This record gives sequence, structure tokens and C-alpha cells, in this order.
Amino acid sequence: MSLSLKEIKIPVEEDLKKFDKHFRQAMKSNVALLDTITYYIVQRKGKQIRPLFVFLCAKLFGDINNSSHDAAAFIEILHTASLVHDDVVDESHKRRGFFSINALWKNKVAVLVGDFLYAKGFLMALENNQFQLIKIVSNAIKEMSEGEVLQIDKARRLDIDEKVYYEIIRQKTASLIAAACSAGASTTTQDNEIIEKMRLFGETIGIAFQIKDDLFDYGEQDIGKPTGIDIKEKKMTLPLIYVLNNSDRKQKKWIINVVKRYNNDKVKVKQLVDLVIAEGGIAYAQQALSEYTEKAIKLLHEFPISPARNSIEQLVNFVIKRDK
Ligand code: IPE
Ligand code: IPE
Ligand code: MG
Ligand code: MG
Repeated sequence: MSLSLKEIKIPVEEDLKKFDKHFRQAMKSNVALLDTITYYIVQRKGKQIRPLFVFLCAKLFGDINNSSHDAAAFIEILHTASLVHDDVVDESHKRRGFFSINALWKNKVAVLVGDFLYAKGFLMALENNQFQLIKIVSNAIKEMSEGEVLQIDKARRLDIDEKVYYEIIRQKTASLIAAACSAGASTTTQDNEIIEKMRLFGETIGIAFQIKDDLFDYGEQDIGKPTGIDIKEKKMTLPLIYVLNNSDRKQKKWIINVVKRYNNDKVKVKQLVDLVIAEGGIAYAQQALSEYTEKAIKLLHEFPISPARNSIEQLVNFVIKRDK
């Protein structure tokens, strides 16, 4: 049986309430425009799966404490900052069902809001001497930036393969979920082997999370942000990479040509999307998604059964089944 996100959150409901306050507090500014924007952000919260991973991974080894709360707030602030910047990079005007920050306040402001959020996250963690957290998180930020730039480079050269695709998503997305899981665990255990295991677990489920996100782009359902924009941005993801690899020379040439020169041609892009579906690209990515999910569950099952472990398992199931 799989639970809804709301149901998965019940065991840590009180902690999530406290989290909301901590999160808001940590983003305050005396500059009126910044405060307006951070208020706008707080009003349109996302799924909050990263703080949920922090809390549940902490619970797996002990009681959620103040350090767990700092980790949850810090990681969600970073996630928020990365989305504000990502929407500038992707020229995307929609986020969480509303206008993105760059759509409302322009790129200049969005870049600075992102910077502000990163700095506020660090200040909050420093105030409480959370050095281990800072170390974990700095590494994630470094990886996220590398992943985003690698992705741009590959979109320019159009020479991405499966291996590089996985490297991009590991860096740009999985690294932060890995940080959430290892940081959460590190607030309730000192055992470095355990913390590393949780990092690997988070990385594995993080890869599955991004494969799912990339699959949404091929769909037409309302997920609160634009779909069908990856090809437009020359971003080749797993379904397309698979089909490209399994095409003859002529088809390969046609695909690359559409991505390179006709990425704004709705008819051609639709033809390409139909081809990807017909040639089994979606099914292939779904298979990869299940494999990563199973791998994550296996890692999780190295720890004894407990209510926290069950909740994490439900959260893993949510990642594959989610509809936004
Ligand atoms: C979106 O993450 C960015 C990706 C890594 C795909 P989420 O889907 O967790 O975003 P919110 O916070 O729920 O909006
Ligand atoms: C994920 O990248 C965002 C980051 C890891 C910073 P995408 O560009 O694929 O995510 P969405 O679809 O805009 O949320
Ligand atoms: Mg984006
Ligand atoms: Mg992006």
C-alpha cells in the first residue's frame, strides 16, 4: 500500500510545523523588497521532501533535535535558492503553479535573491556552530553548480551520452538529496559508516527523483511548472538519449538536427517526442527509475526495521509514483 505525501508527513507533523517557522525566520531581511520576495516564496511552498528526508533519516538513528532542525531549514533554503537560480538559467516563468521570481522581478533580482538565500543559510548554520552540516552542504552546492554547468555544456555540444546524463543528474539533483539524508543522519549518529551509507541512499533515490522529473517533461499533466521544454532548451534526457543510441545513422542525424536547429519548431519537436515514445524511450527511463528505486530500498534495508524506516520507504515509493 502506498501513502500520500500528507500521510507520510504525519509522524513528523510537529517537526514540520516548527520547520516552517524556522525556515521563514532564517530568510528575513530588513530590505523591504527582499522580505516581500521571501514572503512570496514561503507562501508557495513545495513538497518539502528534502526536510522530510532530513527528519526521517535523523529519526532512523535517534531523536530529532535542534541540529536536525538546522539541517532541514538549511537544506530547504539551499533548494529554494537553487530553484530561483535555475529558473533564471532555464528562462522558466512558472514554478509551483505560480510565476517564478525572475518572471515577476526579473533576472537581476532573482540572481541576488538566490545569493541572499545561500548566505542566510550559512549564517543560520554558523550561528549554531553546525560545522559538519556546513561541510556536507558546501559540497552539495559545489556539485549542483557543476552539474548545471555540465548540463549547459552538453546542451551546447549535443554530445551527451547516458554516462554523462547520470553524472549531470547525480550532481545537480541527487547531491542535495544525498546531503539531506547524510546531514539528517549525522544529527543522531556519530558513526561515519552509517552517515556514508545514508548519503549513498540519498544519492540513489535522488537520481530516481530526477529521472522522474525528466519523465514529467514528456507528459502533458499540470505539475505546476512548464513541461515540454527540455528539447526546446536542447536538453537531452534519458528517454531521448536511449532512442538516439538505438537509431540508425539517418535517424540519429534527424534527431540531432531537430534538437539543434528546430528546437523552437513545435511541429518538429512534437514529431521527435512522438518518436521517443514510439521507440520505447519512456519505457526505458521508467525501467531505470525502478532500478534506482530498488537499489535505494536495498540500501535502506541494511538498517533494521522501524517506524522511521517504514516512513522512508513510503517516501521512496512517493518519489516514483508522485504526480507533481
Ligand atoms: C524540483 O524539486 C527540482 C528538481 C530537482 C527536479 P522538487 O520537485 O522537490 O521541488 P518543490 O520544492 O517540490 O517545488
Ligand atoms: C533541477 O533542474 C534544478 C536544480 C537541480 C537546481 P531542472 O531544471 O531539471 O528542474 P525543474 O524542472 O526546473 O524543477
Ligand atoms: Mg529548470
Ligand atoms: Mg535546469
